[in-house]
Formats: sequence, C-alpha cells, structure tokens
Amino acid sequence: MDKYKLVIRGEKPLAGDTYVSGGKNTSLAVIPAAVLCEEPCTIENLPDIEDVHVLHRILRALGAKVDFDTKLKRMVIDPRTVHTTTVPFHFAQQMRASYYFMGALLGRYGKADVGYPGGCDIGSRPIDQHIKGFEALGASINEYSGMLGLEGSPHGAIINFDMVTVGATINVMLAAVRAKGNTVLTNAAREPHIVDAANFLNSMGAKIKGAGTDTIRIRGVDKLHGGTYTVIPDQIETGTLMIAAAATRGDVAIHGTIPTHMEALTAKLLEMGVSVTSQDDVINVRIKRGHRPIRLSTQEYPGFPTDLQQPMSALLTRAGGHSEVNENIFDNRFKHLDEMRRMGAKVIISGRTAYIEGVPQLRGAPVTATDLRGGAALVIAGLMASGVTEVYNPEFIARGYERLEDKLSALGADIHRERVD
Ligand code: EPZ
Repeated sequence: MDKYKLVIRGEKPLAGDTYVSGGKNTSLAVIPAAVLCEEPCTIENLPDIEDVHVLHRILRALGAKVDFDTKLKRMVIDPRTVHTTTVPFHFAQQMRASYYFMGALLGRYGKADVGYPGGCDIGSRPIDQHIKGFEALGASINEYSGMLGLEGSPHGAIINFDMVTVGATINVMLAAVRAKGNTVLTNAAREPHIVDAANFLNSMGAKIKGAGTDTIRIRGVDKLHGGTYTVIPDQIETGTLMIAAAATRGDVAIHGTIPTHMEALTAKLLEMGVSVTSQDDVINVRIKRGHRPIRLSTQEYPGFPTDLQQPMSALLTRAGGHSEVNENIFDNRFKHLDEMRRMGAKVIISGRTAYIEGVPQLRGAPVTATDLRGGAALVIAGLMASGVTEVYNPEFIARGYERLEDKLSALGADIHRERVD
C-alpha cells in the first residue's frame, strides 16, 4: 500500500453530528473467542480497521471459514474447519493482541502455539500474568524461537493476578470457559470490553459471572454453540472525538455511544470548563472559551484510561496554566509530546510524569506518529494549531480508528491524505 501522510490545516472548530464505530479492543477479544464455539458465529458492529483484518487473516490461517463484510460491519466465522493450533510468528509481529489465540486455542483444543508478542512503543508489556494463569489451569509452557507453546486440557483453578491486567484477564477467561471444573479470577480488570467478551461467551453458552468486577467466576462447560452477537461501541474512539471537539472549541454530538463508559473523561473535561451533556446514546461536547489546566493520573477502569492520556495531553498543551499528567499504566507513553514540542508545546517529561505549560497557540509542523493513540493525539494537535500540520506514519491510526479523517472532515476539519514519495 502506498505510503501517505495526513495534512491538516488547523483552527477549524468541529461542529455537527458524528457516530462512533464498534470497539477495537472488544473486537480483538471477541473474534478469537469464536474458535471456542462448535458452530458458526456472526459478530456485528465490527469496525473496518487494520487490526480486525489481521484477525481475519489469522482465522483463515487456522483453517476457519470467515466472511467479513465491511459494509455490513459483520463477520461470520465457522470454526468447524480449524485444522491447526499454530498461529505463525509474523502475526504476533503485526499485532500484539494475536495472543488472545493462546487462551482461545488452549481452551478449545488443549494446545496452542502462538508468536510471543514483542514490546511496542508504549512500554515493555510482558505477558507473565497470562502465563501464570495458563499454568494454573494446567497447561505446560514451552518457549521456542519466538513462539509460546502451551499444552494441556485446562482444569478449574483460583488465580489471583499480581496486577490488574486487561489482557491476562481476557486471555485466561478464554482458556477457562471450557475447562473441567470451576475457575475464579481475582484482582481481575474491569474494562467494558471485558464485560463484552464475557457477554459474548455467555450468549454462546458459557457460564461466566462477575465480569466488570474484580472477581470473575467461570463454571467450565463442555461446549459452546454458535449465534449472533453485537459488540459495544468503542470507548476510546468516543473519548478521542470528545477531546477533538473540546480541542477545536467546537460543538459536536457523538451518536451511538455508551455515556457511562466515559465518566472518567467526562469528569476531567467538566473540570477544565468544557460542557459535556448526554442523552440516551448521544454525548454533546461544546466549548466556547479557553479551558483550565488539570492534574491527570491514568488508572485501570473505571479510572482515567491510559489510551486517552495521549489525546488529552494534546488538549492540555493549550490549557490556561500548568497541567500534570501521570501515566501509571505504561512506562513509555509520552513520545507524542516530544513531537508536539515542534509545534510550540511547552512540556517537561520526568519519568512517568509530564508537566505541561499551556501556550496560547500551537503552530503547524511536520510530526511523526509512533503508536496508535499518540498518532490520534498528533491529529488533535494539528486540528488546534495555526497553519499546516503533516502527520507522518498515520497508518498507526488506521489500526484502531475507522476512517478518523473522514469523520473529522465531515465535522468541518480541513484534513486529507497525501501520498508520500
Ligand atoms: C489493553 O492492553 C489494551 N489493548 C490497551 O490498548 C490498553 O492500553 C491496556 O489494555 C490498558 O487499558 C487491547 O485491549 C488489545 P494490560 P494490555 O495487560 O492488555 C503490565 C490501545 O491503544 N502487564 O492491562 O496489554 C503491562 O506491562 C491499546 O488500544 C504485566 O506486567 O494491557 C502494563 O504496564 C494500547 N504483565 C500493565 O500491566 C502481564 O502479564 C497493563 O497492561 C500483563 C500486563
């Protein structure tokens, strides 16, 4: 595919109505979970994003019959023709979350060989807690040439995670739904997409209670049937659109949301002086004047999500005063701020804290995305800045946002793709 950049002419307030797509992180959990079923599954409201296409390719590589209709946002997965439990290493290189096939294949076949995920641009991101859970369920673990080999039919267990981890909570839940006996996960993560994955599995016949709390109880069942399931809207895309509306001093209505998933962000925007109201599945964001600085600390759900730290810190570069951002989840998630310095942002980074001194205006400049949410943050900075901003490596953004630039230009942003020679 040709290389391209995003070209943004800033200072255009976003106004009007937009809609949020199906959730990326919920899709990355629900799609692999389909291999646990004995019959075809239809998953609806899937976003047309690169990460979902990677999962489509992995399912095909396993032998499943898959049809992904991006117009209807519907994927039909028939796992009955799966003929291997090996996910080739190159898929792990393309996408970390391919590791959910460890739990799904182990849970269905008692065996999985999946590429060991590397780190990425936001931190080291080990999977020791995933492995701890799989071992507790009775799997033997063998690391070899970039792969993780798991073997052993899962039996019930009590597993206490050493830290709250979304990935391990989901991965071990996948391995446990068809285990012999009952499993209890304590110190479990509570993100909305964990609840969505559990709801998907329960709709296929699993017996999971407590998803969304820190204790998840799973009664192992012999098999899961097929069915149809609609994934929840994307919490992080919703938040990104809310922040973009505030950053451009606009007036935007975002449709198809779940406002209760956005409470931590909404509270911080209100603290800044942004008007946020909601009615049913619509969130309205409007701001008519400057906004106040804040102190922000990322936490596990229901705290302020780390995935919105980067877009939010873009907004804070223009708050009227000193803001402080503490990134408590990942150990290297401020690279986007280094890029924003070229645009006139005043930032000091010390360990896991960024001290941001608001400036009256950012100036457009060429900047480079290094990860998905950092890329979204650079787009927001470009929407705020005077002049033209060019965002290089925007394919990071396409991994997790469905046609973000189309949604923004429909709201009045001057943003388009340009080929890079
Ligand atoms: C999920 O990543 C999300 N990805 C991330 O979103 C999100 O930032 C993160 O949860 C936190 O909410 C998907 O859902 C696909 P964790 P995950 O396991 O599961 C440490 C995005 O932009 N840890 O909750 O990898 C880990 O290093 C992405 O959409 C261990 O030490 O996050 C991190 O510091 C970015 N050992 C912390 O826990 C483990 O075994 C939280 O990680 C597992 C995690």
